[in-house]
Amino acid sequence: MDLKEKIDLQKLPKHIAIIMDGNGRWAKNRGEMRVFGHQNGVESVRQTSTAAADLGIEFLTLYAFSTENWKRPKCEVDALMSLLVQTLNSELGTLMDNKIRLKAIGNINQLQPECYRQLLETMDKTKHNNRMDLILALNYSGRWEISQAAAKIAAEVKAGKLDPQMIDQDIFKNYLETRDIPDPELLIRTSGEYRISNFLLWQAAYSELYFSSKLWPDFRKDDLYEAILDYQNRERRFGMISEQIKQVDNK
Ligand code: FPP
Repeated sequence: MDLKEKIDLQKLPKHIAIIMDGNGRWAKNRGEMRVFGHQNGVESVRQTSTAAADLGIEFLTLYAFSTENWKRPKCEVDALMSLLVQTLNSELGTLMDNKIRLKAIGNINQLQPECYRQLLETMDKTKHNNRMDLILALNYSGRWEISQAAAKIAAEVKAGKLDPQMIDQDIFKNYLETRDIPDPELLIRTSGEYRISNFLLWQAAYSELYFSSKLWPDFRKDDLYEAILDYQNRERRFGMISEQIKQVDNK
């Protein structure tokens, strides 16, 4: 029985988020420039996205460029932006064939202009696809997202449009980039690092964390299936006790 067949399709996470890490080390291990790792990471993006859509995952979020990534050498930032433009262009067929809708979270209008333009174009061309949303986190960080939500809320309070007494978790969520997206049940990070690195800080409150030792360019469909199988063997308690969860499951 292969790994995919072992997955219980009735217990799939709706939303999987991935911190794609290890491109630089993958390239270095081969005596190549870091950008070679990013280029090879595109195949992993393709495999993971199509495998997730085939299984019936509804949302897949990939951390593609953080607000901190601007601090990398300019040549790497430029190479990443060009790779993104090139990939969005060349993978349009894959997105259409697999009925994947492209979305983005992050401060995207501050991306390099060609990258922003290509992103808007691909999002527009795929907007009627309805099998899975592929959400790219670009120029994104959790702290940026939470602080800009707080700023928007403060502006609405100041303008008399929002009563501070009304602000609770459900209201706050509406000011986040992910307002229309459920929280990820499963958060995967590759490359054997055990950090969240400013990704989906609000949304990952109850996510199951899965750490793969694979470097991102080596991550394949079977690695995704393994992560999902691991998730399916966990008990999610949300602060309750085991017996309460079993009662809820049996209802
Ligand atoms: C982290 O590895 C990876 C990134 C910052 C970029 C991810 C980009 C891609 C996979 C390219 C294409 C993406 C899309 C969505 C088309 P790292 O450079 O931090 O690796 P290291 O920790 O080994 O240095």
